[in-house]
Amino acid sequence: MGARRFLRDYWQKRPLLIRAAFPGIQSLLNRADLFALARNADVESRLVLENSGNHAWQVHHGPFSAARLQRLPATHWSLLVQGVNFHLPGAAHLLEQFSFIPNWRVDDLMVSYASDHGSVGAHLDSYDVFLLQASGQRRWRISKRKYNEHDLVPDLDQRILGNFTSHQEWLLQPGDMLYLPPGVAHHGIAVGDSITCSIGFRAPSNTELLGAWLDSETSEEIRFADPDLLLQRHAGEVTAHQLRQLRRLIRNTLSDDANLDRWFGRHLTQLPALVPPPVAGPVLNPAKFLARLKRGDLLSRTTPSRSVFFRAGDRSIHLFINGLEFKLPARCATLAASITGPGTIQWSPHKSPSSRSDATLLLTLYHAGLVRFPD
Ligand code: SIN
Ligand code: CO
Repeated sequence: MGARRFLRDYWQKRPLLIRAAFPGIQSLLNRADLFALARNADVESRLVLENSGNHAWQVHHGPFSAARLQRLPATHWSLLVQGVNFHLPGAAHLLEQFSFIPNWRVDDLMVSYASDHGSVGAHLDSYDVFLLQASGQRRWRISKRKYNEHDLVPDLDQRILGNFTSHQEWLLQPGDMLYLPPGVAHHGIAVGDSITCSIGFRAPSNTELLGAWLDSETSEEIRFADPDLLLQRHAGEVTAHQLRQLRRLIRNTLSDDANLDRWFGRHLTQLPALVPPPVAGPVLNPAKFLARLKRGDLLSRTTPSRSVFFRAGDRSIHLFINGLEFKLPARCATLAASITGPGTIQWSPHKSPSSRSDATLLLTLYHAGLVRFPD
């Protein structure tokens, strides 16, 4: 199915099962890769154990020791590793296959390894997700019913819908993929050992954005002042003029569109707190750098990476990678699209008329560890 049709008919609207969406997915990662990630303190991971009896669900947060991972029962558990795309270039490459959705909407690639019967329970998520079966099999059940927070079983470590009723189910084989829009209750249960990739999206809420904005360094504090205060008849009254001043105090803080847009760029490309920034390659002087490009070596973004660009009102291009900002002239739109797009960066000193300034930008990105040559 074409991306256009998917966006029109399914995205944020209805579930879709795509058989054999990624036939070659099995080689992406295996149990050993995931267990290694779950032992790493820079990686967010959790272990979900489903028990019988009183304490039906147990959730443990990583990093996990090798001994802990060896002590797992034979069935009924899942190990979930968040942000795999920030740690494994192959996983980052898989996410690029989803570039029919804007970069900034993509959250991360979560990978779960489940033993037979392993599950995180029936639940609903607030975000769109593609559930891609990477190896083994998993049975997914979804419900047509609209559930909400009140349907969650109270006092559990895990968000579980107590009264989940399934209306449709599929057994996913390696390469099959199920798309779910936000709010569709679902339940996946491993049939034998099973690895599932969740390509998760993000949709910030007003309160999340405002909170993050207030926490950021850009929020300059402006305090209420009233040197024009006149004697009031009633001390208890907040006058219409004062209410206007208070409203303005809040609204003016957010009224500078150019400033806010640049903050969006920085904020949306921040790496998650745990993830260390990429390591820069060896220092190259401009002549050596240009020589490699002339030889046809193509640069690509390093892992971890989050990148976007936008066109400002004055037509200049603002490029953001991992929270860093680069301002470029209007003619750099194609270069910015390639830097932030899937695959290698399509730029060669032979083709571009303004190669020197473009090469300077690429060298800056290279020395900041944001782009690299192939090994
Ligand atoms: C899983 O991979 O087990 C859970 C993914 C999800 O339901 O969102
Ligand atoms: Co889910």
